[in-house]
Amino acid sequence: MAIISPPNTRVLNSSLAQKIMSADEAAALIKSGDQVGMSGFTGSGYPKAVPVELARRITEANFRGEKFQVSVFTGASTGPELDGALAMAGGIHLRLPYQSDPETRKRINAGEMEYMDIHLSHVAQFVEYGFLGKLDVALIEVTAVLEDGRLVPSSSVGNNKTWLDQAERVILEVNSWQPMALEGMHDIYYGLEPPPNRKPIPLLRTGQRIGIPYFEVPPEKVVAIVLTDSPDRNSAFKAPDASSKRIAGHILEFLGWEVKKGRMPANLLPLQSGVGNIANAVLFGLEEGPFEGLTSYTEVIQDGMIRLLKSGKLIAASATAFSLGPDMTTEVNANMASYRESIVLRSQQISNNPGIIRRLGVIAMNGMIEADIYGNVNSTHIMGSRIQNGIGGSGDFARNGYLSIFMAPSTAQKGTISTIVPMVSHVDHTEHDVQVIVTEHGLADLRGLSPRQRAHVIIENCSSPDYKPLLLDYLNRAERLSYGKHTPHLLTESLSWHSRYLRTGRMLPQEEN
Ligand code: COA
Repeated sequence: MAIISPPNTRVLNSSLAQKIMSADEAAALIKSGDQVGMSGFTGSGYPKAVPVELARRITEANFRGEKFQVSVFTGASTGPELDGALAMAGGIHLRLPYQSDPETRKRINAGEMEYMDIHLSHVAQFVEYGFLGKLDVALIEVTAVLEDGRLVPSSSVGNNKTWLDQAERVILEVNSWQPMALEGMHDIYYGLEPPPNRKPIPLLRTGQRIGIPYFEVPPEKVVAIVLTDSPDRNSAFKAPDASSKRIAGHILEFLGWEVKKGRMPANLLPLQSGVGNIANAVLFGLEEGPFEGLTSYTEVIQDGMIRLLKSGKLIAASATAFSLGPDMTTEVNANMASYRESIVLRSQQISNNPGIIRRLGVIAMNGMIEADIYGNVNSTHIMGSRIQNGIGGSGDFARNGYLSIFMAPSTAQKGTISTIVPMVSHVDHTEHDVQVIVTEHGLADLRGLSPRQRAHVIIENCSSPDYKPLLLDYLNRAERLSYGKHTPHLLTESLSWHSRYLRTGRMLPQEEN
């Protein structure tokens, strides 16, 4: 971590420049019990210096026998210098709304940290309406502070506008690693009044701009500015494997079919692509596919989306953050100005806004942990009780999209567990919000089907051959013996499906009888 010292060209407002201090001095302005709204979304645009110093102060306080914890609200996941450092120090009391950090996950699953897994579109209004109490501090990474005091956002927007508006005190990290050419890429909308005065958001097209490219902050609220020069840290995407490529192939074939049936235009509808390698593989597949003039209304700009922009197949992308592997980050940062026309970064309240997602008719494509035979989806919990990441924006897009697609390989843990199960061990998306399920074996289009019809299609098209006989056997017996025949279930047996795996560590057909 290089802390650069003034004078510098990134803090142009002379009175705010007086507030430049070290990360340690700034961290000292955060007190135990504070609720801190931090920037950061999928390893982009998170503060990289103050959280490390805060973690150090917390460790020292613990060493003296003093309890020191803060609550951390962000856009979504962050990087090791934020979630990793603070979790390691045991410094987080409550974390929301999404994380993917191994140490944070460990602490949450050990019951040592409170975690609220919230739809990403809800977070800002939870704070604005006061549901989560007072926001004490906003700790926000920005690219620059302009002469008039407005702030140039960095590589993610997330909930930063809300944190800056709502917090009592503001600490800024001005990161000169972020290219100045980011200026002009953002669209920060200041027109969202609380009910009953809320007006329609005037956004009608993916790439449309309805706000201003800057954050505004009352200068008197800014208590510290810290200068950094540190990279974002997103991990590299895996090259698509055979299974992801097959999943992508099924989706592309299905979308082609939808176009032929006249259910969507030849350039499709705006695409939302979830986190992870399979989502990225679908984007890679689109690069080789027949569709032209694509648009995207999504949460993060991943490598595959940049490739689609470069190939000319994608013409406009709207998101709240970049989520690029290291090589793609270097390339995009070097050519940021050339992407300003085609990429818009917005607050997550707008990127994930249910009304806009419904209005634009977004095609939602998200990963899942497991789906059950009736179409309920678990996106978050392994074996029903261990959080993996969180619901993120999947609910915002799945419930409100024109099409809602969930995808996963048909088995997990080296084939020892089926991702198609009789009853999901935790429900994030109900059967009412899930229209299409895809695995490497095929695609189940659930639209217009009753629960029993759905069960047969999901098992037939999506389950692994290793588990298909087990699932069919369950369904056949449930259809005969279930109390009700609308959504047939043998409750004791469906609930024991996962615990059999937990006992044996594997659940292969020959072990069942
Ligand atoms: N049973 C047991 N373990 C399972 C499992 C299952 N049914 N499904 C997945 N896992 C395990 C994997 O084996 C892997 O374990 P490992 O870390 O020990 O290797 C881990 O869970 C992650 O699975 P993986 O297949 O690598 O995940 P992914 O990168 O494809 O992501 C989700 C899948 C569901 C975790 C991810 O899409 C997610 O977090 N979704 C929720 C948020 C979201 O959708 N955001 C997008 C909105 S814009």
